[in-house]
Amino acid sequence: MARYFITGGKPLRGEIRVSGSKNATLPILAACLLHGAPNVISGVPALKDVDTMCAVLSYLGARIYRHGDVVRVDSTGVQNLEVGEELMRRMRASNLVLGPLVGRFRCARISYPGGCNIGSRPMNLHLKGLRAMGARIEERFGYITVEAPRLVGAEIHLDVPSVGATENIMMAAVLARGVTVIRNAAKEPEVVDLQNFLNRMGARIKGAGTDVIRIEGVEHLSSVEHTVIPDRIEAGTHLVAAAITGGDVRVTNVIPEHLEPVLAKLREMGLEVEVGDDWVRVAARSRPRAVDIKTLPYPGFPTDMQPQMMALAALAEGTSIITETIFENRFKQAGELRRMGANIKVEGQTAIVKGVEKLTGASVVATDLRAGAALVLAALAAENGTVVDGVEHIDRGYERLEQKYAQLGARILRVPA
Ligand code: EPZ
Repeated sequence: MARYFITGGKPLRGEIRVSGSKNATLPILAACLLHGAPNVISGVPALKDVDTMCAVLSYLGARIYRHGDVVRVDSTGVQNLEVGEELMRRMRASNLVLGPLVGRFRCARISYPGGCNIGSRPMNLHLKGLRAMGARIEERFGYITVEAPRLVGAEIHLDVPSVGATENIMMAAVLARGVTVIRNAAKEPEVVDLQNFLNRMGARIKGAGTDVIRIEGVEHLSSVEHTVIPDRIEAGTHLVAAAITGGDVRVTNVIPEHLEPVLAKLREMGLEVEVGDDWVRVAARSRPRAVDIKTLPYPGFPTDMQPQMMALAALAEGTSIITETIFENRFKQAGELRRMGANIKVEGQTAIVKGVEKLTGASVVATDLRAGAALVLAALAAENGTVVDGVEHIDRGYERLEQKYAQLGARILRVPA
């Protein structure tokens, strides 16, 4: 795997532009399966996960044309309705093709996405929704087969506000007969962006961003041009990079409202936070103060920012308590941060982080996307050199991270595998 060689200790200063949202792009690309004619999506980030979703769509028979941050998807030629193990294991979010395939073709077969480093990642709520809409589901030999006459609208209550289940059910309901209501729906901004994309296609969806989403089935859809929202997690990661290095960074192309839970915590830690229409600036004037964090579904504190905040808390004054309520195994970065001198004690879903004066460079390994980002942040602040292995995990969700941070003065070198 590729590696980063990072020499820390230098405050990051300057301006950085955020790319389009990975977690808005992936469901929107899958939604292109609902309608044959070409759809054009702009602001698409150059990420490995986007490459994987494009590979899945091509494998199904769609024609993909990419130029810069524009992706054109023509799913007229889709005939294959099955996604095998290799692709599903490469990226769990490939399961987002389920809803559109069943919605349009009445049938789909996907290999189980399997767990990943942060948790078991079940799909029971995705399947609960499809079953409620009349689908027959068979789970055998590591595959999920879903068949349905035309789906029928239903009332579906999600036990937990699952982002993926909300998105899959929304997409399946677009062409169903009648009205579908999703209760306890995920309220993430990426769900709202998907609603906006689908409504541009001719769907009739209301309520995304609240916990009740109503989808009135329609007969026809049409081509769409859409620009995805900026990536709030990438933006948050860069703001923590400014904070942890004692720097002063302005992040542009953001929707500040989407960052509110993160900005509130950074202010609580004593950082200077300035907010514009489409930018946010964070400056560190003194050592950050410890803070307690509990991850929750949006608009609570995002789990995807928990590892990055743990790295910042490792250097804060005082003891921070971090509680992870979304995934059962998302403290993997703690062990690697301890190798850099952090004082972190994990007890079940809680991490007790006793701030230290400084971190020292070490050789560390990224185990997943956000844990990897946390290690980069810690390395930018640590004394002397750090080698971060497993950079491919980071490439899944961050576009040219080494170039973006080098622009801010970071001493970061990418060494290919
Ligand atoms: C989405 O994953 C994001 N991925 C994740 O971002 C993010 O961490 C997560 O939402 C939570 O915000 C994309 O949008 C592509 P969930 P998703 O279904 O949809 C349980 C990143 O780093 N659950 O909302 O898979 C599940 O076990 C990634 O960019 C069920 O019990 O997450 C978890 O505890 C990581 N049954 C909780 O819900 C189900 O059927 C939240 O999962 C589905 C989920």
